[in-house]
Amino acid sequence: MKTIGLLFGMEQTFPPALVARINSLEVEGVSAEFIKTGGVTLEDLLKYDVILDRISQDIPFYRAMLKFAALQGVRVVNNPFWWSADDKFFNCAIAEKVGVPVPKTVLLPTKNHPPSTTSESMRNMIYPLNWEELFNYVGFPAYLKPHDGGGWKHVYKCDNPKEFFDAYDQTGDITMILQEGIEFDEYYRCYAIGKKYIKIMPYEPRNPHHLRYVASFTPSKERLEQLEDYCIRLVTALDYDFDTLEFAVRDGIPYAIDFLNPAPDAERTSVQEENFEWVLDTAAQYLVELALEGRKTPNGYAWSSFINSGK
Ligand SMILES: Nc1ncnc2c1ncn2[C@@H]1O[C@H](COP(=O)(O)OP(=O)(O)OP(=O)(O)O)[C@@H](O)[C@H]1O
Ligand SMILES: [Mg+2]
Repeated sequence: MKTIGLLFGMEQTFPPALVARINSLEVEGVSAEFIKTGGVTLEDLLKYDVILDRISQDIPFYRAMLKFAALQGVRVVNNPFWWSADDKFFNCAIAEKVGVPVPKTVLLPTKNHPPSTTSESMRNMIYPLNWEELFNYVGFPAYLKPHDGGGWKHVYKCDNPKEFFDAYDQTGDITMILQEGIEFDEYYRCYAIGKKYIKIMPYEPRNPHHLRYVASFTPSKERLEQLEDYCIRLVTALDYDFDTLEFAVRDGIPYAIDFLNPAPDAERTSVQEENFEWVLDTAAQYLVELALEGRKTPNGYAWSSFINSGK
């Protein structure tokens, strides 16, 4: 029997619905359940063949457990090694390399010293920063946001340097990026599953949370094809099997705004019924595909060659 395990936190609707959907497919030899774990020893053999991770960004114990699971060949969605290494500034650099437009973006040193450091720890940093140059590069309006964040926490729209400094003063020791604000005509949020199943959803970020997926934009056929192509390029380069990607369209050009969402919102109440059904169906199908393919240790790490050559 191949087992698909779900690891999740505060979500209410998606995890139980996904387990039920997978089991309702009645694929011979495949079943899904919620993961149960305690302390993990080096001798443990994890029983799961596939794990969907919806929460390790908040629970470092889970991230460590998932790296160990991957070493044993468990198909972990998303890749716990890459997720730990990724950030939104690097993401933008990758987007440029793979030919997807992104807003002009600056990586900023933190406002405060990180915990347990002093100005002596910062000897490589110039002070004051070359603010004028940075502002001229990005322009206003601009968005100040964490280089690794979610849930709109510490996301500030700034229309001028004063608003920027007021916002930056509130960011403490969080590493931030400052990004050209794209004043858009259309906005899309796209689900990408298994680097091949894409759902493009008109999205209106200026609406209150529960109405964001109620938007009046209708993408043309060309726009759909272009967004699908951009999504596949980005998730392939970034090795995400479960992600959402956002694009703001200005003057006919879609700019990738946020595509580091490895545990994207999938609650029925926020994504709306039709999108929820698509995510359920597609995630169920993809996780079953992985289960049937079976265990596989990741490639591309120095240690993989030892494991995969059987040494
Ligand atoms: N450069 C930008 N230009 C225009 N709008 C932006 C830009 N950056 C962020 N935004 C707006 O701010 C919102 C939140 O930004 P972002 O998605 O980067 O943060 P997040 O915390 O990861 O949010 P989420 O949890 O929705 O993924 C976006 O949905 C978008 O509406
Ligand atoms: Mg995000």
